[in-house]
Amino acid sequence: MKNRIEVFSQKKGKEKLTLLTAYDYSTASFLEDSKIDAILVGDSLGMVFQGNDDTLSVTMDEMVYHTRAVRGGAPDTFLIADMPFLSYHVNIEETIHNAGRFIKEAGAEAVKLEGGEEIIDKIKALLSAKIPVMGHLGLTPQSINVFGGFKIQGKSLEAAKRIIQDAMILEDAGVFAIVLEGIPEKLARIITKKLNIPTIGIGAGRFVDGQILVINDIFGNYKQLTPKFAKKFSDVGKEMEHGIQTFINEVKQGVFPEQKHSFSIDQDIIDILSKE
Ligand code: KIV
Repeated sequence: MKNRIEVFSQKKGKEKLTLLTAYDYSTASFLEDSKIDAILVGDSLGMVFQGNDDTLSVTMDEMVYHTRAVRGGAPDTFLIADMPFLSYHVNIEETIHNAGRFIKEAGAEAVKLEGGEEIIDKIKALLSAKIPVMGHLGLTPQSINVFGGFKIQGKSLEAAKRIIQDAMILEDAGVFAIVLEGIPEKLARIITKKLNIPTIGIGAGRFVDGQILVINDIFGNYKQLTPKFAKKFSDVGKEMEHGIQTFINEVKQGVFPEQKHSFSIDQDIIDILSKE
């Protein structure tokens, strides 16, 4: 079997990597056909799928459920699962157990963890257990209570140095790529130059090795929030509004369903039934 992680990482410097999130079978099947470089089942599902204000309440069971659904729709796409808040903070045993569920129960090939030096023991333990890890630094949404909200990170000299150092520590530990979220693009460029592994940006500007976005943001079907860094590549939200309204109108006006949407039965049976 082709080592998808090697194929992924070796694209650094040769072509830009593309990743999108997915949470369900149907969306995943479109991504599979697109030949995207990887799918992330992000804990962003807590917001765009469940409608919460943040990602903190997402559970392991929910993540495993969605990852399995995505794997069903995308059997041949590199699949990364996001470890939710507190699933890798308690101790090493729990971390390995939880990450292992994504591999054994849901068919993921790698996991993503938010954080740097403070979780390096957990990352090393996962790598020893042969579970590939993607890092995630910068505006890590599971830390919003520490950051005081969804705020761009790494703007002061000290904070920028901390992120650079964390990126190097993660690379040394053996992660295969790092998501850089919500940091200035010139800082992302410095980190990208320093690392041999790919950097994947979300709100980290142009000078990274690849881009990831939350799929609802590119489709415009998450109405609550449109982050500055996101771009609506198609207006699925508008199409949905149109489809819903047309359904309502056609049912009310007797336009839908037509005979072609209905099923037939022998007239003899209908004659008998009508007489009873
Ligand atoms: O949860 C998520 O979808 C993510 C990406 C946006 C990087 O972590």
